[in-house]
Amino acid sequence: MTSSRIANVALQSRVMDAEAAAALIAPGTTVGMSGFTGSGYPKAVPLALARRIEAAHDAGDPFSISVWTGASTGPELDGALAKAKGIEFRLPYNSDPIARGQINRGEMNYFDMHLSQVAPMAWQGFLGPLDTALVEVTAILPDGSLVPASSVGNNKTWLDRANQIILEVNRWQNPALEGMHDIYYGTALPPHRVPIPLIRPDDRIGQPTFRCDPAKIVAIVETDTPDRNQAFKAPDQSALLIAGHLMEFFAHEVAKGRLPANLLPLQSGVGNIANAVLTGLIDSPFENMTAYTEVLQDGMLDLLTSGKLRMASSTAFSLSPEAAHALNADMDRYRTRIILRPQEMSNHPELIRRLGCIAMNGMIEADIYGNVNSTHVMGSAIQNGIGGSGDFARNAYISIFMAPSTAKGGAISTIVPQVSHVDHINQDVQVIVTERGLADLRGLAPKQRARLVIEKCVHPDYRAMLADYYERALRDSYGKHSPALLGEALSWHQRFIATGSMQFFSGQ
Ligand code: COA
Repeated sequence: MTSSRIANVALQSRVMDAEAAAALIAPGTTVGMSGFTGSGYPKAVPLALARRIEAAHDAGDPFSISVWTGASTGPELDGALAKAKGIEFRLPYNSDPIARGQINRGEMNYFDMHLSQVAPMAWQGFLGPLDTALVEVTAILPDGSLVPASSVGNNKTWLDRANQIILEVNRWQNPALEGMHDIYYGTALPPHRVPIPLIRPDDRIGQPTFRCDPAKIVAIVETDTPDRNQAFKAPDQSALLIAGHLMEFFAHEVAKGRLPANLLPLQSGVGNIANAVLTGLIDSPFENMTAYTEVLQDGMLDLLTSGKLRMASSTAFSLSPEAAHALNADMDRYRTRIILRPQEMSNHPELIRRLGCIAMNGMIEADIYGNVNSTHVMGSAIQNGIGGSGDFARNAYISIFMAPSTAKGGAISTIVPQVSHVDHINQDVQVIVTERGLADLRGLAPKQRARLVIEKCVHPDYRAMLADYYERALRDSYGKHSPALLGEALSWHQRFIATGSMQFFSGQ
């Protein structure tokens, strides 16, 4: 008995259970899966595939696959497949702790890449062939087109590029999602590229559904399983202070005439601090705001509910279970104010530059010159990945990075002499904010930047140490443009690895 969600009669014959569908995925192949954060990822076939992989390993047979997605997914996908030791290669973003452990132990190959570049690179053929697209959808329409689910990600590209398609039709996804998506089919490879006709964040330039060649669909699996995103932490004192500094900064920029009174389209990154800043905007004087971003998290939904945010464009929801429930219960209210696009559009450099987005992203650490590390702990252990932060930071109207001034209970300073890994070069970083203050680095030369960062952003436990380093670098450095003591610049990280703290203690 098939559900009314599969309205194409011919396709109803391809309905099967998850085990039968998983049996169609061969060892050593590449699977392009849906999913962007814990939204819209397939929830049954990856679990069945993980069971199959475990059985093969128990029998002494090798079995692993390459997994491409939109970004991070849920525990039923990355977690289950990683636990089964079934992922040989992964791109473009991961936040699953089991997969992270395997990557950092050198057991899984991981290509961490700019999210806007995944679809173009797949089309360019740089990533190799795509064997299977495994995509969750809300419904299949009578003409065989597909209503996307709670994330769009790279699904358009997976469906077009893959040799075979497996669909999960998830009854949990609200049917009222139909009409919320904007799937643009005008992309092309050079030399055939043309300007993308999107001028405002609320422009619709595509169609509401995915096209899909029915001949490629080999299996359809019906599910009824919720998306699973982690709940956000309630904003702590640091997050509230960071939000406060940013509100003051925005008010100052409006007063100076450098931002309009309703600001410019907001982009807000992943994580708890970014969510807290959005919540802070609810009590701000700014009205009629818009968002052109990659994930729509709880704070952004609250902003929409408050009426302060007129509309939001993104590629995915990234909502806590409570917020997802609230959205689902009241979808009609939000439907016309939210647009979900493919990630190559939500993160497109051309569009971010044209719209003049205000980019606000979390960071692992920054150095005194404003270089930012978003991805690697102690220079070598990946936390998540660069995600869309590079897409936005380089092309934004204002590019802001934020973090508490210390991590791990004060054992780590997030402002260091030199970052242990560079994701965003100082030219792409305009504002750094910690709970201590905000450093506006626009128009400043390296030495001016260093003094401001030390004055505004560093925790008092580390300020004297950093000022001492900088003064000695100024005196003894090989060159005086961006003074550095090369033998010492990474010694803070080395000390943490050796002692568990970046601080000097007596006797050291
Ligand atoms: N050294 C070591 N660990 C650090 C650290 C540092 N300098 N800074 C943060 N961390 C750790 C935290 O201790 C925490 O670890 P835990 O999970 O074991 O508690 C973890 O990193 C997350 O940090 P948190 O303070 O909770 O911040 P967050 O949730 O705001 O995430 C990033 C911060 C940088 C990890 C996150 O923003 C990220 O992955 N960014 C890259 C991708 C991105 O920007 N995407 C958005 C583009 S649209």
